[in-house]
Amino acid sequence: MTEARPDQTVLEFEHVYLVLDDKPVLRDVSFRLVRAETKVILGASSSGKSVLLKTALGLFRPDSGRVAVFGRDITGLREEELYPIRQRIGMVFQEGALFDSMTVYGNVAYVFQEDRALPAEEEEERVRRALRFVGLEEAIEKLPSELSGGMRRRVAIARAFVGQPALMLYDSPTAGLDPLTAQSIITLIVKLGDLEDVSGLVVTHRLQDAGVIADYFYDPESEGLLPAHSNGRDYDTKTSVLVLREGQVVFDGARDEMFRARDAYIRRFIG
Ligand SMILES: Nc1ncnc2c1ncn2[C@@H]1O[C@H](COP(=O)(O)OP(=O)(O)O)[C@@H](O)[C@H]1O
Ligand SMILES: [Mg+2]
Repeated sequence: MTEARPDQTVLEFEHVYLVLDDKPVLRDVSFRLVRAETKVILGASSSGKSVLLKTALGLFRPDSGRVAVFGRDITGLREEELYPIRQRIGMVFQEGALFDSMTVYGNVAYVFQEDRALPAEEEEERVRRALRFVGLEEAIEKLPSELSGGMRRRVAIARAFVGQPALMLYDSPTAGLDPLTAQSIITLIVKLGDLEDVSGLVVTHRLQDAGVIADYFYDPESEGLLPAHSNGRDYDTKTSVLVLREGQVVFDGARDEMFRARDAYIRRFIG
């Protein structure tokens, strides 16, 4: 592990405005994500969650304001300058977006192309390690069509993670999954954050996802989640919650504070 200050900022939005098709989609969005922190992004459909993630990747450029990734302002960077920064970000797209004609191996190894090529043995070891991490090594030769929805989602996470990114962006990783499978995906996200110190933005419309991420940590011994605050234990899960409403940040802070918020929109989320 590299030495880093605990307060190291991994991602920062400063007064970001973004207009798409004459419609303001992000409106004065500001937030900060520090090393090993997981920020859960809640918001209704079309509130700008996916656009926010894509803006962090440099796929959308703010009309005003600033986005900094790993301390570097990416707002005015050219595509080829963005490339090495994107390599340090793992993106899990909505619905996983796997290549249907490629095996699980091919999908996960996809990042090791061209200038990122590795010796074959090393590539295979990295792919196997990532698949082991998500509990799918035995599916390595399968095609996506042979996998369940939850397994495909896990492959997508392995693919995003195999390049050892410092920042993971998850777009609705639990959407469309049954509750048990959704829980296993959240467990995996917590595991990545806790064992690998990866920072993350997790878009979800499920409030319970935020609760699990905020209240549990990954225990390698039992290979499962344990409550962060019980039996005198006080584990810092380094979790925060950001609520987007029509492109505006209406809440950014600790999950417990969210429950105390009076805002009607937030209350609708937390039922
Ligand atoms: N490429 C695009 N071009 C134009 N408008 C877009 C584009 N992507 C998203 N939008 C609009 O931006 C708003 C936010 O979209 P999105 O971030 O996908 O919402 P969600 O919170 O559901 O992920 C929506 O009104 C959507 O129609
Ligand atoms: Mg979306």
